[in-house]
Amino acid sequence: MTVHFIGAGPGAADLMTLRGRDLIGRCPVCLYAGSIVPPEVLAWCPPGARIVDTAPLSLDEIEREYVAADAAGQDVARLHSGDLSIYSAVAEQIRRLERAGIAYTLTPGVPAFAAASAVLGRELTVPGLAQSVILTRVSGRASAMPEGETLKAFGATGATLAIHLAIHALDKVVADLTPLYGADCPVAVVVEATRPSERVMRGTLGDILALVAAEPVERTALILVGRALAAAQFRESALYDAAYQRRFRGRE
Ligand SMILES: C[S@@+](CC[C@H](N)C(=O)[O-])C[C@H]1O[C@@H](n2cnc3c(N)ncnc32)[C@H](O)[C@@H]1O
Repeated sequence: MTVHFIGAGPGAADLMTLRGRDLIGRCPVCLYAGSIVPPEVLAWCPPGARIVDTAPLSLDEIEREYVAADAAGQDVARLHSGDLSIYSAVAEQIRRLERAGIAYTLTPGVPAFAAASAVLGRELTVPGLAQSVILTRVSGRASAMPEGETLKAFGATGATLAIHLAIHALDKVVADLTPLYGADCPVAVVVEATRPSERVMRGTLGDILALVAAEPVERTALILVGRALAAAQFRESALYDAAYQRRFRGRE
């Protein structure tokens, strides 16, 4: 028996990996995180599957589902939004599974920051402007930020910032980053990327608060900040430069 953690992607059912879809189709038990999983995905469960919304469950109750499935010899598909590598609460579940001697696998998914980049039609790294993307969040009820992991510290790098779980703290994002990036620095708020309810607000650190106040955001949103978001004047990457290709073709 194995618990298969699956990154279910940002919302659109066709942004699930083929591996994730096939695992869902093979597992007689499916645990999914409530509001984030589109109904089409649950339709891939085999007939008669036990399908459990974990939104109202505690970690102890979720562990009991794993233990019961293990006793019944039934594989579990465990769906989380986006990719599993960030803010997925997989670490604490894996620790419990290891204690219980239950096997598990992880199947990656499309993370929200990549979906938001696609929705914006922008690359988040642009030569000479930003060559790093920082995936971060602000302190919330569930998790405080470790000391040192502050927006000001990350902003000092000038990298593109993808700020999760932070739409309620947009005023703090603006206050912390304006001195570092400038009031004219591009900002995008991407709400429910790839879902039918998707919305995009583009502005700058100087006007994004007013833009969002005019169309309040209550649900899942990602805040992207950085010069790369609206870059027009930048040098082309050397990768496709003719001279570079002659020297290094085939070595990428
Ligand atoms: C608990 S975290 C999960 C992140 C997820 N594991 C990932 O790989 O993107 C939830 C936060 O991710 C961002 N997020 C997730 N899905 C999103 C979407 N479809 N559109 C915009 N932001 C999204 C929001 O900032 C949201 O508050």
